[in-house]
Amino acid sequence: MLLLKPGLRLYKTALDRAAQEALRDELRGLLREAPLFRPAMPRSGKPFSVRMSNCGPFGWVSDLSGYRYQARHPETGRPWPAMPGSLLALWRALAECDLAPDACLINFYDEQSRMGPHQDRDEADFSAPILSVSLGDSCLFRHGGDSRRDPSASLRLDSGDVLVFGGPARLMFHGVDRILPKSSTLLDPPGRINLTLRRAK
Ligand code: SIN
Ligand code: FE2
Repeated sequence: MLLLKPGLRLYKTALDRAAQEALRDELRGLLREAPLFRPAMPRSGKPFSVRMSNCGPFGWVSDLSGYRYQARHPETGRPWPAMPGSLLALWRALAECDLAPDACLINFYDEQSRMGPHQDRDEADFSAPILSVSLGDSCLFRHGGDSRRDPSASLRLDSGDVLVFGGPARLMFHGVDRILPKSSTLLDPPGRINLTLRRAK
């Protein structure tokens, strides 16, 4: 474990190749049940460059009317699929939190996708951390402080890495500057999947 700053822990290759392949295969089935959708920014309606889905009791969505957690897929109207047991086990092992996660956002990045700097603050309780799992192509992840103007640093996240941000880092600004194409052979079609486990409610 690497403590990058208070509250920000990096578990390099927390998932080995076999565990990454097993999770990838599980996600493939899950995304058939809850297909990736392209969210839009509140107000402007500008489409995100990532596509998203969710698993667990609640899912994070964004559209013209705002950001929120909801129990159903915005396009199919069906409840989100259950969170895979392997993700719940990762949370138990690494999150240092007694309460279970109730939401997992699935982000799919193609070579062009990015995620602008933002805070994760739609959750009811900030005492639980965010646990992020990376699969597939590597990315350059940017993390800063609690203010958009604070200095920030870039971190390469590779397939199998788990990042936990909680405590004093729970509300840090973070985003994805870019994907490093062809850096992994895990996914076909290629790209990056990021899973973030949260306590939403
Ligand atoms: C997010 O902040 O929702 C995603 C972060 C990442 O893709 O690593
Ligand atoms: Fe985030």
